[in-house]
Amino acid sequence: MKLDQNRFFLVRTQSIPIGRRLPFDLFLKISGDIILFKRSGDILPQRRLEDLIKHSIKEIYLLKNQKTLYLNSLKEIVKDPDSPDELRGRFIKETAFNHIEDLFSNKDVSTVAEESTDLVEDMVEFISTDLSAATTLMKLSTHDYYTYNHSVNVSVYSIAICKSVLGDDKKLLVTAGLGGLLHDLGKRKVDLKIINKPGKLDSQEWEEMKRHPGYGYDLLQDVPTISEDIKRIVHEHHEHMDGTGYPKGLTETQILKLSRIASVADVFDALTTKRSYKEACPAKEALEIMANMPLGKFDPNVFKMLETKLDKKTDITLDKSVDPCLPHLHFKKAS
Ligand SMILES: [Fe+2]
Ligand SMILES: [Fe+2]
Repeated sequence: MKLDQNRFFLVRTQSIPIGRRLPFDLFLKISGDIILFKRSGDILPQRRLEDLIKHSIKEIYLLKNQKTLYLNSLKEIVKDPDSPDELRGRFIKETAFNHIEDLFSNKDVSTVAEESTDLVEDMVEFISTDLSAATTLMKLSTHDYYTYNHSVNVSVYSIAICKSVLGDDKKLLVTAGLGGLLHDLGKRKVDLKIINKPGKLDSQEWEEMKRHPGYGYDLLQDVPTISEDIKRIVHEHHEHMDGTGYPKGLTETQILKLSRIASVADVFDALTTKRSYKEACPAKEALEIMANMPLGKFDPNVFKMLETKLDKKTDITLDKSVDPCLPHLHFKKAS
């Protein structure tokens, strides 16, 4: 009997818990058909997982009606103090990725947005001010969907930067993390042809792209658990201190501190992520590039925390028009 593919969702092979009883069934796609691989109650041993990876089986199919069981089993591992950090980090990211997938595809944005708080609380507990730890977490698994991956990364970086700049207030850190997670939500409403366009955007397309902060703000309007500050991060993450940003052209104190943090996190992730047209910059180099960006883009106090860790001898700058939402980031050598 052929199984209906619409009943399944995909997870990365490495995100299946190994060596413990699975509370859900696993399926593989073989020659176009979905086949039962492990039943609920079975154990997936490490060597079996390695076999799958060796045979380039990167994705496992799970039943949609077992998604909560899957997410709960990841959560158990994340909460277990005996779990190694690498594993906790990987599963936090996997859970976050699943949320983002839902945020961008599920019609009911508000329920998914509400559920995100729990996840961000786990992230806050895991992330230290050590930016390299955050960077490591981000590199633990790579996904093909840029916007999803990017949203999780910006959330992690926002938490790390917020911790350094504003201290250890958990409520504030969760707000920063949720703002990062949701910051590009408005891209749901932008035509995929624009989002995925490989070349330069024409002026009309660019105008539409610039509406995504406003679209995101509107989408969250009626979600009671999403605070006004989180909505403002979504709305203001492309504003610049000198008023050259969008959508409103706000300046300095008109922009929420947490939005300024999200803006730094946003550019940092755009630079350190590999895209089809560019290699990823190492974190240190990305920070150097940002240090050489025209004054007025970032809040200097937010950026100072990062800058103190930099070697200032650099000859790379970013094009003045750089925007993390442009399909291409242009680099140029300083003369
Ligand atoms: Fe954006
Ligand atoms: Fe972004």
